[in-house]
Amino acid sequence: MKRTTPELIAAKRDGLALDPHEIQDLIAGFVHGTVHDSQMAAFAMAVLFRGMSRDETVALTLAMRDSGRVLDLADIPGAKVDKHSTGGVGDKVSLCLAPLVAACGVRVPMVSGRGLGHTGGTLDKLEAIPGFRVGLSVERFRDVVREVGTCMMGQTAEIAPADGKLYALRDVTGTVESIPLIVASILSKKLAEGIDGLVLDVKTGSGAFMKTPERARELAALLVDVAHGAGKHCVAWLTRMDRPLGRAVGNALETHEAMEVLHGRGPEDVVDVTVALGASMLVMGGVCKDETVGRARLREAIADGSGARIARRMIEAQGGDPRVVDDPTVFAKAPLEVPVRATRDGWITAVDTYAVGTAGVALGAGRTRAEDVIDPAVGFVFERTTGDKVTRGEVLVTVHAADAQRGAEAVERLEGAMTYGDAPPPSVALLLERVG
Ligand code: URA
Repeated sequence: MKRTTPELIAAKRDGLALDPHEIQDLIAGFVHGTVHDSQMAAFAMAVLFRGMSRDETVALTLAMRDSGRVLDLADIPGAKVDKHSTGGVGDKVSLCLAPLVAACGVRVPMVSGRGLGHTGGTLDKLEAIPGFRVGLSVERFRDVVREVGTCMMGQTAEIAPADGKLYALRDVTGTVESIPLIVASILSKKLAEGIDGLVLDVKTGSGAFMKTPERARELAALLVDVAHGAGKHCVAWLTRMDRPLGRAVGNALETHEAMEVLHGRGPEDVVDVTVALGASMLVMGGVCKDETVGRARLREAIADGSGARIARRMIEAQGGDPRVVDDPTVFAKAPLEVPVRATRDGWITAVDTYAVGTAGVALGAGRTRAEDVIDPAVGFVFERTTGDKVTRGEVLVTVHAADAQRGAEAVERLEGAMTYGDAPPPSVALLLERVG
């Protein structure tokens, strides 16, 4: 006897497993409106408390992937590999990584997201480039991947619509933090892109959704396992997000910093994450025999300018002004620059990265409601960070603000985000471990 929707919800509430076809029916009903939002929200809460097995999570991921169009890029020659980050503050890696990997011979079809909570989003950063269009048709996306080697677009109604709908419900029902729901959400979109493999950057620390390495490891392991279950190559890197990545936070500032990576002038931490993830992508794509060779190949693509050339072509193909790759004055600039100064002598022992992210949102770099309009020019540039010795009065951060009031608020928030000590904090590796 087929179980009804209330029976399926009750089964999950009581910790019982669902069959793959029951999960498929539930998702299909949700997308078509026969399963109501209230029922889906109750189901999400039951999953949050009771969890899901690996097989249930694979079934949920595939059902969500199949709720829309699954691209077939098989007629485009060469391997297609994408990268996804679980989200952080100052994480602009996709913007330099995709052109560098494409310059090394692996195509990167990338469907990206917008800022989520305190974290920034690739689409918002791309839209800081004057004229850049992220809303492409699937056909145009394919053409740009074929001609340029990489294309970065937003999730359309055609790609994994069940995720868009479920995510919106989770966002307002306290059910974002469920690991199986996060896995299905991330992978359903990525598996719809027509890729051969996926490299994941699972962030952990005060600026990440997974605050502890244990939770991040659990998420990474399930992401890799479910991606394998769906027949894709997948590896995950656990990387530290206990301080903003790089110096810039804010859309235009971050996009400029990513372009600096392409010119060999990027901050060391952004370059290290880019090169580590990129090397995994090159090995997965079959163009390098191991990650040591892959890292060297990516550094060559920085040194010889081939990554920057691909970035100019991709930006032009998507309607943007390619001069941004070389000329930061093309970006919008905030009218005010306000310094955040050290309040004492000593070492910075911690930066509350969640607080930095929320300060960025309050400044106008992110949204608190879906309809909020982002100011691409505002944000922060960090001169000092965790582990640095500082002197009272020295500039730690420059706030780029639209007006004096918001600038002053951001200064106050950033002052509160800094912890000082009398000795340097223990150093922690940026790349913690590789899963898969
Ligand atoms: N990113 C996603 O795409 N989905 C989640 O559920 C969390 C982070």
